[in-house]
Amino acid sequence: MNAIKFNDKLIIKLYVVIAISFLFAIGMMMLISYFTLPMYLKEPTEINLKKYNLMLISLGILTFLVCSLILVRKKLIYLKHITENIEQIANGKLGLTIEVQGRDEIAQLVMNINSMSEELKSKFENERRLESSKNDLITNVSHDLRTPLTSIIGYLDLLRKGQYGNGEQLQEYVDTIYGKSQRLKNLINELFEYTRLSSPDVRLNLRTVDLARLIRQMFGEYIPMLESERLIIKESITEEEIPVLIDVEKMVRVYENLIMNAIKYSMKPSPFHITLKSDGTKAALKVSNKIAVRPADDANKLFDRLFIDDEERPGDRGTGLGLAISKRIVQLHEGEIHAEYNENWINFIVELPVQK
Ligand SMILES: Nc1ncnc2c1ncn2[C@@H]1O[C@H](COP(=O)(O)OP(=O)(O)O)[C@@H](O)[C@H]1O
Ligand SMILES: [Mg+2]
Repeated sequence: MNAIKFNDKLIIKLYVVIAISFLFAIGMMMLISYFTLPMYLKEPTEINLKKYNLMLISLGILTFLVCSLILVRKKLIYLKHITENIEQIANGKLGLTIEVQGRDEIAQLVMNINSMSEELKSKFENERRLESSKNDLITNVSHDLRTPLTSIIGYLDLLRKGQYGNGEQLQEYVDTIYGKSQRLKNLINELFEYTRLSSPDVRLNLRTVDLARLIRQMFGEYIPMLESERLIIKESITEEEIPVLIDVEKMVRVYENLIMNAIKYSMKPSPFHITLKSDGTKAALKVSNKIAVRPADDANKLFDRLFIDDEERPGDRGTGLGLAISKRIVQLHEGEIHAEYNENWINFIVELPVQK
């Protein structure tokens, strides 16, 4: 809070108003007595003296009151204006600001009220956003969970009523139920992870590691799978050490999802590129693969929670939560993750701050 200058202080202003009004009243009294004294002197009785003094003092007090009222009038109107505005803020008109006049304590009070009103507005809006995204989540979650569950119930009903042709069909139904149950379990796990990461008190198990080494090690484990999926690897992972402060388990999850996504969703056969470099302040990992069709207009939409139709991709269905979870994890590390399309390529870039 700024210190108020001596001559801007309310109490000083008040003293000045009193002094001016007092001087004015004295002046007025002198002026009146100058004109009325000869009248009194014509008949200078005791009773007339009393009356005369009473009249003079009353006039003095009246002048003092009128003069001080005129001098503080502007402030009084301003105070009324402030009161009315505060009433509006209290009635829910958050974000309303009051015009600041002068540099005294009242001006400072108004500035504080203004910042309080704006703060309240942004808090309120934030709260509303959170509430609506929570509602969206609940709606999507119920949909996501209901789809496999409906299938499971349908197949179990067939089994219950004995509506299957032979042992082969029975096995097929049981396999389907098993597959759907597994999917349900994965979905619940991922949803749980997603909500856990979205909670404000999530904790990271941070330690400093060499990112280049970590990526080399982790990527090595995926080479056989990439090759068997007919992806032609081009790898460029820097030799230099990149110290980063991360929750290893969580960040590995981010990188693994990117590689698994490339395996699941890229054209085959096609090239697969992985690059890791650092400029000393930021470490950037880029994973690129070729795609036949764009999964969304804006590549960064893929980070929103996606609903993936249960029947749409019968093979390797994901939960559509991998990238949303990844984004949360990277944000918790004060990093950035984004995607871009370029011709037939899709690139995912993860940036993390490098330790000095
Ligand atoms: N490397 C990629 N190439 C093409 N499409 C991708 C790639 N990565 C992600 N996608 C698209 O984004 C969606 C969301 O990915 P993700 O959040 O990891 O969920 P999941 O892998 O469980 O489907 C995928 O279903 C896919 O359509
Ligand atoms: Mg995925």
